[in-house]
Amino acid sequence: LRIAVLFGGRSSEHDVSVMSATNVMRALDPERYDALPVFVTREGRWLQSRMTGGELEKPETGTELCLVPGGRGRLLAIAPDGKTTEAGRIGIVFPVLHGLHGEDGAVQGLCQVARVPLAGCGILGSATALDKDIAKQLLKAAGLPVARSVTLHQESPPALETLETELGLPLFIKPARQGSSVGVRKVSGSQEFAPALEEAFSHDRKLIAEEFIAGREIECSVLEDVKGGLFVSRPGEIAPAESHGFYSYNAKYIDENGAALKVPAELPADVEEKIRATAARAFRALGCDGMARVDFFLMEDMRFVVNEVNTIPGFTDISMYSKAMAASGVAYAEVIDRLVEHGLA
Ligand code: DAL
Ligand code: MG
Repeated sequence: LRIAVLFGGRSSEHDVSVMSATNVMRALDPERYDALPVFVTREGRWLQSRMTGGELEKPETGTELCLVPGGRGRLLAIAPDGKTTEAGRIGIVFPVLHGLHGEDGAVQGLCQVARVPLAGCGILGSATALDKDIAKQLLKAAGLPVARSVTLHQESPPALETLETELGLPLFIKPARQGSSVGVRKVSGSQEFAPALEEAFSHDRKLIAEEFIAGREIECSVLEDVKGGLFVSRPGEIAPAESHGFYSYNAKYIDENGAALKVPAELPADVEEKIRATAARAFRALGCDGMARVDFFLMEDMRFVVNEVNTIPGFTDISMYSKAMAASGVAYAEVIDRLVEHGLA
């Protein structure tokens, strides 16, 4: 099966995607898959890549690839001199892209237009999950617990006092459509508020201010089977190092000791069951299919909130999705097989 693995991309999680896709490429069994890595540049161009010495090439120029609308996987290759040739057919697209333009339904829509199967979540679930404001509204409407929040628009951001009355302090300022905690700041007082808004608005026109929940970070992987049944992994726990304050971008990817993963998380059996059931409900509430990782905050009294749903979760060395699946008896390669099977069904 010829599988196009898209990586890189236009979002600020470009580098995270490269790490994720490198792992995915290493896990694809060459006996079963003919993998075609496609590097999506920061400008959004698709360039043919390849694995050399276990690493993915990130070309600046070269052969551009183009999926033909209605072509059922037909691919055209455009050489730098503009000469266009047929580049065969691909059987399925696996976008290993995070954030805007990759995890938000855009590429998923492109696959539908091209009539090529897609591994992972489709248009609707991708779009709703990536927007923290919309996702929260849907989760709330489904009766699921979420942290209190206020949506902020660039033209009329409220004063900190207003937010403090509703949410207390500290609070979090987050771009609505970003991943990996890019642009996220914790605000404890007025001197931190303006810089936090400035930083977050540099990433998105819409933000959410969210109450601070003192709790443990718990995550569950969800994988849909071809019949539409949901497999929910045992929960894993992420313990960010004290020095980072929260599970920031640096704690995630830059500092090797930024966080410790515990898989499975140590939880009372009834709490684990409740969290797993809630993960499945959150997946459904957002209209997801295929796959997602559902993230929670668990408080000391064992109440919890759904923090967010990631439809293309990280597949880096430190990422939880595959670790939680493995702890539940589904090895990395098997995860990919099931995703492909789901996409082809
Ligand atoms: N957005 C990152 C990749 C994650 O959720 O794992
Ligand atoms: Mg995320």
